[in-house]
Amino acid sequence: MKLFFFPCGVCLLPRLLVTAAAPQVSYDGYSVFRVSVGKQVQKVNSIVNRLSLQTWKGAPRENTMADVVVPPDLIDVFRRKISGMHAITMHDNLGESIARESPVQTYATGSANNTWFDNYHPYPDHLQFLEDLQSKFPSNAQVVVAGQSLEGNDITGIRLFGSGGPNSTKPAVVLHGTVHAREWITTMVVEYHAYTLLTSQDSETRSFLDKYDFYIFPVVNPDGFIYTQTTDRMWRKNRQTTQDSRCLGHDINRNWPFKWEVPGGASTDPCAQDFKGRKPADAPETVVLAKWLKETKRRQGVKLFIDVHSYSQLFMTPYGFSCEAEASNNSELQALAAGAVAAIKKVHGVQFEYGPICRTIYQATGSSVDYVNDVVGADYVFTTELRDTGENGFILPREEILPSGEEAWAGLAFLLRNMK
Ligand SMILES: *[C@@H]1O[C@H](CO)[C@@H](O)[C@H](O)[C@H]1NC(C)=O
Ligand SMILES: *[C@@H]1O[C@H](CO)[C@@H](O)[C@H](O)[C@H]1NC(C)=O
Ligand SMILES: *[C@@H]1O[C@H](CO)[C@@H](O)[C@H](O)[C@H]1NC(C)=O
Ligand SMILES: [Zn+2]
Repeated sequence: MKLFFFPCGVCLLPRLLVTAAAPQVSYDGYSVFRVSVGKQVQKVNSIVNRLSLQTWKGAPRENTMADVVVPPDLIDVFRRKISGMHAITMHDNLGESIARESPVQTYATGSANNTWFDNYHPYPDHLQFLEDLQSKFPSNAQVVVAGQSLEGNDITGIRLFGSGGPNSTKPAVVLHGTVHAREWITTMVVEYHAYTLLTSQDSETRSFLDKYDFYIFPVVNPDGFIYTQTTDRMWRKNRQTTQDSRCLGHDINRNWPFKWEVPGGASTDPCAQDFKGRKPADAPETVVLAKWLKETKRRQGVKLFIDVHSYSQLFMTPYGFSCEAEASNNSELQALAAGAVAAIKKVHGVQFEYGPICRTIYQATGSSVDYVNDVVGADYVFTTELRDTGENGFILPREEILPSGEEAWAGLAFLLRNMK
């Protein structure tokens, strides 16, 4: 933080300047609308562009739902412009919804019990939670660091192992959460997997720990995640500057150095939510994670990799870069995805869809899964989009944390049980 010196007549100023330097972006009075685009993709895009509105799932596409964030002073004009189209209100007042799910500082150091999943939490508590799991389960857990983010935060995870102890080198199962900073449910769900593996009395669950070496990273984009908690809840990217642009942030999940250059699957505009960077792997987080994955593959093999996102309720496989290219073991991946989706549904009746990324959601280049599938060479690679399908979007009520974890665990357990 910079220090400012002023003549004493303005002694109050420094405090005010410090406050102004990190304003909490307010969404009070903002509404989020879900518009059924149908065939009117040009119309919706032009409304969004002319009013400079943010959308939550990329540019509106034909026959999809566009989830559009509208500031208070534009709500009337927006309603008029979409009149005649089918639309619902996701958040009447986004600021209030954010306040309802904002982290409550109730975590007691050392506790690491199941009440963790009743709330979202401040970033330092997430680190403490992992430390506490390590202290409670010293013969099964170890906090690990993959490397540092742009701003020097550790990319922290927890490694879980079974009766072979920390020196055994079983094939790795690697889970990434919160690469997109605002997808808070993913942090909690990935932690739920770790918690379940460590605390379950179920003999099959215990056996997974003996069979695999788990590396669970709840927040692979710590700079972005911290920023969502200090400044702007709706931030997605990392916090990287780009030469010749006033906009910040590279989308880490469009930055991986495999088929990065293929056109159409990411933005070249530094102001866009899915800005791919100027060069492949120019985001420090991508470099760290790619290097760590390759080393892990060399050391012990990577059996399974899942990059966890929200929202849309999808269970997806490579590829993102092309809708024609097919993963070499595609039929096996689809069969596993189908089984996982059925297992998820059994828990709370929630329906996920599955399929290759490009055909299921949209083309995405430079995504982690394509890289991990083809360059790292993991055996099984998936990416999921957790709850919901658009009732709440990124601001998922805290009551849905535990059920989201339970159903996602059923999906993961299906994979662990059925992978060859
Ligand atoms: C569970 O964790 C909460 C939050 O950290 C703590 O307040 C509570 O005392 C813990 N309960 C038990 C039984 O340890
Ligand atoms: C693991 O290996 C290290 C170095 O080889 C050794 O010092 C340590 O005792 C081993 N730990 C266990 C639990 O076997
Ligand atoms: C799936 O295909 C990828 C390459 O496309 C390969 O690296 C991986 O080993 C395959 N997995 C299995 C289980 O055959
Ligand atoms: Zn995402």
